Amino acid sequence: MIKVVHTIKETRDAVNAWRKEGLTVGLVPTMGFLHEGHQSLIKRAVAECDRVVVSDFVNPMQFGPTEDLESYPRDLQADTKLCDETGAHLIFNPEPEEMYDKGFCSFVDMTGPTAELCGKSRPIHFRGVCTVVCKLFNIVGPDRAYFGQKDAQQLAVIKRMVKDLNMPIEIVGCPIIRESDGLAKSSRNTYLSPEERKAALILSKTVFMGEKLVREGLTDAKKLVELMKKNIETEPLARIDYVEVVDMDDISIKDTVTGDTLIAMAVYIGKTRLIDNFIVSDKGV
Ligand code: PAJ
Repeated sequence: MIKVVHTIKETRDAVNAWRKEGLTVGLVPTMGFLHEGHQSLIKRAVAECDRVVVSDFVNPMQFGPTEDLESYPRDLQADTKLCDETGAHLIFNPEPEEMYDKGFCSFVDMTGPTAELCGKSRPIHFRGVCTVVCKLFNIVGPDRAYFGQKDAQQLAVIKRMVKDLNMPIEIVGCPIIRESDGLAKSSRNTYLSPEERKAALILSKTVFMGEKLVREGLTDAKKLVELMKKNIETEPLARIDYVEVVDMDDISIKDTVTGDTLIAMAVYIGKTRLIDNFIVSDKGV
């Protein structure tokens, strides 16, 4: 039976006991309201590690002042059920005060891969992500940690942080899980009205269109972005934040779709900001 703990001490005690038995530990960092996307990460962790910790924490530090911290959906009971059924062993669900006490003033900040895409539209976002993930790594001390390609820039940023700061943790990237109609699963999809839910399909449709164009031989990044933007603009409820072609690892803007390339987009559907992407590697789309 899965255990839910709310303090750093309880988490450390549990992990220390496993370590004494020589067991390996996997960590799946989440902000809760878990769906099949999160579940795919947990499944992978359960397959590869003896014990799996899921952190379930809506991290205030990564939300901007006008963003959706207050309305972000939460359901610890449903999360616990999903984690239990998927075979995780511990949920770490701290209160913000447990993670950030009164005098908190240390941050993990990054230049490079945070400069473009979501880093541009959400200036303090990755400082909050890096800081909380670094804290989670220090609290749990996992052998491996699992992140989704749904947040491809976040995955690149965490890989860079681990490399730069010599954290002895293997970062495992997992593919995007989609609804049957194509929409990438996201806790934020719950914000969408029925009409917006239909309109949101423009993201995945544009991803699939982009993949097809690349498969057919298009390598000019400008042309690809232009065609993808045009397609998004056919949806009246959609407002483009960005569509960009970048290097998959350092997230620098690219002129051509060659080598490991990330084609990423953020689009507002009404007030809800959604992201989606696809990756082209040397092996193809
Ligand atoms: P959250 O949005 O809850 O996502 C937790 C993890 O689940 C991330 O690694 C994300 O990429 C992955 N994920 C979400 N939807 C997915 C999907 N449809 N397919 C595959 N993976 C998916 O990302 C965060 O939380 C936070 O920034 C966090 C890393 C926990 C730091 O607070």
